[in-house]
Amino acid sequence: MSCVLCILEWCCALVVLALLIRRWLRADADLTLLWAEWRGKKPEAVLPGQVVWVTGASSGIGEELAYQLAKIGSLLALSARRENELERVKKKCLEISSLSDKDILIVPLDLTNRSSHGPATKSVLQHFGKIDILVNNGGRSQRSLFVDTSVDVYSAIMELNYLGTVSLTKHVLDHMIQRRRGKIVTMSSVMGIMGAPLATGYCASKHALQGFFNSLRPELTEYPGISVINICPGPVQSQIIQNVFTEEVSKVNKNVGDQTHKMSTERCVRLTLVSTANDVKEAWISDNPYLAVCYLWQYAPTWAWWLLNRIGKKRIENFKSGVDADVSYYKKSS
Ligand SMILES: NC(=O)c1ccc[n+]([C@@H]2O[C@H](COP(=O)([O-])OP(=O)(O)OC[C@H]3O[C@@H](n4cnc5c(N)ncnc54)[C@H](OP(=O)(O)O)[C@@H]3O)[C@@H](O)[C@H]2O)c1
Ligand SMILES: *[C@@H]1O[C@H](CO)[C@@H](O)[C@H](O)[C@H]1NC(C)=O
Repeated sequence: MSCVLCILEWCCALVVLALLIRRWLRADADLTLLWAEWRGKKPEAVLPGQVVWVTGASSGIGEELAYQLAKIGSLLALSARRENELERVKKKCLEISSLSDKDILIVPLDLTNRSSHGPATKSVLQHFGKIDILVNNGGRSQRSLFVDTSVDVYSAIMELNYLGTVSLTKHVLDHMIQRRRGKIVTMSSVMGIMGAPLATGYCASKHALQGFFNSLRPELTEYPGISVINICPGPVQSQIIQNVFTEEVSKVNKNVGDQTHKMSTERCVRLTLVSTANDVKEAWISDNPYLAVCYLWQYAPTWAWWLLNRIGKKRIENFKSGVDADVSYYKKSS
């Protein structure tokens, strides 16, 4: 009798384990973040009335951030280079939310023009009197092999993704330190965790951001009201592939391909807001297999290096044949 019970127990345990593994394979974020989404604070409880400055707000993830924040009732400063696109985003924000004209400030900004970052910060502070949250989102990716790429491209990527972010953060942090509160949210990438072929310069810039913010955080322990939050998305639908750096600084990427297999912009932004509301220090937001590769890279790097040599080959083949580099890793979402 006890033997039968014992077998039953084991069967139950295996079923539970199989269900958990099945759930985990379908997960689109790391366990800390999924927990925060399930049990943590809701963005709707934390973000209304907060002044949020979003860079790269003229398209993709930044644009969607503006829409979701507007609906929640945050006050917005929107930055990017293209003022007309920011006007379009502002207009839609006003349509879909109960914000009024003065609740959304457009601040045209080139992240690579560092002398403009001080005046821009001043203009946001003059308008709203405070900045609660800075979202360092503006940036550009890369699609080119190192051997074919000019070193000028590496310099341009670092100027934009890394130094632009560091510079703006410096100005805004001064203000947050005075107030002893604030959140600095930075769009890193899974490529801030792992490596990937075709993105040597981009990976380097996101690794630089990870190193920078992971070192800044322990410099701010005297200010428990200030949090440093790094967001690491995998492939997400946006204009990023149209805007990538290529072999030369001025060469435009013509190889865009279908993007519909990637995570929706809405989902990535929702999880970003959950991370922000809960001060998640590092959030991995990605479908598998990239999510699994993040775990592997973090906990068993020698296996990750082995694996990336294999799956990376496919990425390069895809790129050379003119389809999206990541297309073969995803089933089309139905
Ligand atoms: N989509 C993904 O798969 C993915 C994955 C991981 C991480 N990310 C990160 O997410 C962030 C947003 O990218 P996205 O996917 O939303 O791409 P996107 O649609 O190309 O948006 C990029 C934004 O950055 C702005 N930007 C570009 N150069 C700029 C400059 N010199 N100064 C100021 N703003 C500049 C662009 O606006 P203007 O052209 O008007 O200046 C645009 O608003 C980036 O940091 C990217 O690395 C994206
Ligand atoms: C950089 O910003 C400064 C200050 O806003 C501005 O005067 C200057 O023209 C800008 N430089 C470029 C190259 O756009």
